[in-house]
Amino acid sequence: AIDPQFHENREKVGEENGVAVWGPVDEPEELGIHGTHVAVDYDICIADGACLEDCPVDVFTWVDTPGHPESDQKAEPTKEAQCIDCMLCVDVCPVDAIDVDAG
Ligand code: SF4
Ligand code: F3S
Repeated sequence: AIDPQFHENREKVGEENGVAVWGPVDEPEELGIHGTHVAVDYDICIADGACLEDCPVDVFTWVDTPGHPESDQKAEPTKEAQCIDCMLCVDVCPVDAIDVDAG
């Protein structure tokens, strides 16, 4: 599952699609955690899609990640600023790849 303490345990290494990226990153096999308020561990995501389908405010967008061992698409939290902290995405992700910092 995604580490809920990633802000402390990882370094921010850059930005993609307007979203922070928390390393380590070693493309294409290792992609890190994307997002801060709404965070998706790209190395855990299997492109299930439940988060995209269920988010009431459409926070997530598909991005292509060819060559990643788990899946060749990931859910990018491009509109994390719109998040209403409903926690639906956290509940529906089958691999616990999402953390929402509602605190
Ligand atoms: Fe969308 Fe709710 Fe997840 Fe926020 S917590 S990204 S509003 S599903
Ligand atoms: Fe990925 Fe989980 Fe969404 S596997 S696509 S973060 S539901």
